[in-house]
Formats: sequence, C-alpha cells, structure tokens
Amino acid sequence: MTEVELLHHLKHNPFVLAPMAGITDMPFRAFMKKLGAGVVVSELVSANGIKYGGENTLKLLNYEESERPVGLQLFGEDPEVLGEAARKVQELGADFVDLNFGCPVKKVVQKGAGSAVLKDLNHLTKILRAVKSAISIPLTIKIRTGWDQNQRNAIEVIKVAHDEGIAWVAIHGRTRSQGYSGSADWEFIASVKAVSPLPIIGNGDLTSAETALARLRQSGCDGVMIGRGCLKNPWIFQEARNLLYGLPQDAGIDYNYLPVLTDLKERLERVHDERTVVIQLRKFAMWYSAGFPESSVFRRDIFSTKTTQETFDRIVNYYQPLMLSQRLDTSHEAFLMGGHG
Ligand SMILES: Cc1cc2nc3c(=O)[nH]c(=O)nc-3n(C[C@H](O)[C@H](O)[C@H](O)COP(=O)(O)O)c2cc1C
Repeated sequence: MTEVELLHHLKHNPFVLAPMAGITDMPFRAFMKKLGAGVVVSELVSANGIKYGGENTLKLLNYEESERPVGLQLFGEDPEVLGEAARKVQELGADFVDLNFGCPVKKVVQKGAGSAVLKDLNHLTKILRAVKSAISIPLTIKIRTGWDQNQRNAIEVIKVAHDEGIAWVAIHGRTRSQGYSGSADWEFIASVKAVSPLPIIGNGDLTSAETALARLRQSGCDGVMIGRGCLKNPWIFQEARNLLYGLPQDAGIDYNYLPVLTDLKERLERVHDERTVVIQLRKFAMWYSAGFPESSVFRRDIFSTKTTQETFDRIVNYYQPLMLSQRLDTSHEAFLMGGHG
C-alpha cells in the first residue's frame, strides 16, 4: 500500500485501533475491524526477536486479509536490526510498518528502545533512516509527548520524522514519566498538530464515541487512536463513525453481547490453543461486564474456568438476561493503567 492510499483510508475512517500488547492480536484486530475500526496496528513486536526467529515472536506478525490496512509495530534500539525486521514485515505483505517510541516500560527503556529514543534525536534519525531505506511501504511512528514534563519535544521529533519521510505520527498525550497517570493532554496534541508538517493521530483517554469525535474535531488531528475504550465498549468504533457521518450514534448497531462474544470466541479458537482462548475470552467478557449488575460476582465466577466451553457457558448465563439499559457508565473509572506505549 502506498502512503497516499493509507492516508486515504485514514480520511475515510479516522478511528484507528491502538496497538495493545496481549490484546490486539490477529483475531481481536479482525474482530474490531468488523465492528467498525479503521486502520489497525499490531502489538509491539521485538526486532531482536524477529532476528532470532522465535516461534512466539513470529506468530505476532500474522494478520488476515480482512484487517487491511494493517500495520505491524516493531520495537528495538539497533537501526540495522530494526531495518531487517521491517524488511521482513514488508515481505509478509503488511500494509505499513509502525515503530514504537512510546513504550515506558523499564525493561524496554533501559535497553534504549521505546520512549528512550525520544531523548536522543540523533539516534532517532539513524533508526528512521535505516528502516525507511529497508522498505518501500509506508513507515509510521508512535510516540509520547516527550520523556518528562521538561522535555516535551514532540515537535522536534516530528521535524525529524518529516525529514526522514515518515507517513504519520501517532501521539499518546502523556509523557514517559507519567506512565498512565493523569490525563492525556489534548491541548498539547492540538498545539503540535497546528504546526506539524505531518499527519497526526491523537491518542489517549477516548473512552466514548462522543469524546473520540470531539477530540478529533477540537484537536484538528487527522485521526484518533482508541485503545482501552474499545475494551469496555466493543461498539465504540461503529458509534464514532455514525456520529462522524451525522447519523444517530446507535444507527444499525445491535447491542447484544452474546453474538459479539461468540464471534470473538470463534476467531480466537481458529488461531490459539485452548488455554489462550480461555484467558482472552475471560478478559473481554470481564471488561464488557463493567457497569452491569453483579459484574464483580461474574468476574470472580469466570476467573476460575478451565475450558472454553465452561467459560462460554458462564458468559451465556451472565449476559443472556442483561439489558443494555442496566449498564452504568464506568468510562471515568481508572482502567488498565499500564501498557507498552
Ligand atoms: C494493555 C496495554 C498494552 C499496550 N501495548 C502497546 C503496544 O504494544 N504498543 C504501543 O505503541 N502502545 C501500547 N499501549 C498504549 C496504547 O496504544 C495507547 O497509547 C494508550 O493505552 C492510551 O490510549 P487509550 O487511553 O485509548 O488506551 C498499550 C496500552 C495498554 C493499556
């Protein structure tokens, strides 16, 4: 896919699925795509891991046709190794390569990868140059606003990215040192967008469709990335698109959890062993139950299941009698306060 084609997709549907380790695997991305997500991005994949060809690492590079446009996200610190890994991503036929410069996790940062790269623009230049020259598909990056409050250098990072031919920059509106505390600074994102020569995708705390559209409009960003928001509300992308196109938020949406969880279960079963299916299915069923009556009892109950069948039986028992009108809004509650970007 060319950069022009990728940006065309973004224009048509500016609601991008954020990369989330342990969550946005192939079945989940395809599932979210079916439920209205625009561009989707894989979780971070280690460039060193690709070099050594570990089975678990290579599995993370799988995607399916229905996901397109799909980007595979790499992290690492060595320009050569990242370039080789990006070449591999291109050979596999993905639509674009995304580089992770937002990961705040100590183990990653200590090696000079993830958000550590934001502190060294010479090194950033070397990485971007090496990766860009290894591939012909678009290259995008995902950053934080900066390392800490005194070093919010997103504008300088974007200048480098522009010089090196990057297609867009996604910005999680927190500094590295903030981790997941505080709120994403959308005013900062808007101020960066206002002077950016590159398309900008804003990210952080879009927990409802109304917020996603409002942030898109107020910030002037070319797209917005939704992460945790779709883990409680699987219809957030459809709702946001409805609002964007002037339709009622709920137009054409069947707010029924059982068909949705059945679809997800079947997708997970096609690619994962039973243990992983159970772990993933439990997580989503628990997150979707937020705000519904007895959700804490359900969460405790489903936590001990062993088989897919047993897990799904409990899901059916819980969700069958639920009505959407019983759900309390929990979008303001702290949720999953840690991750790789
Ligand atoms: C569990 C989890 C895993 C994450 N993994 C990644 C990742 O692999 N790569 C990345 O760039 N960001 C990762 N992130 C960061 C998200 O992409 C996003 O920037 C962040 O969650 C803020 O957006 P949100 O408020 O919409 O969730 C992760 C976040 C969470 C919660």
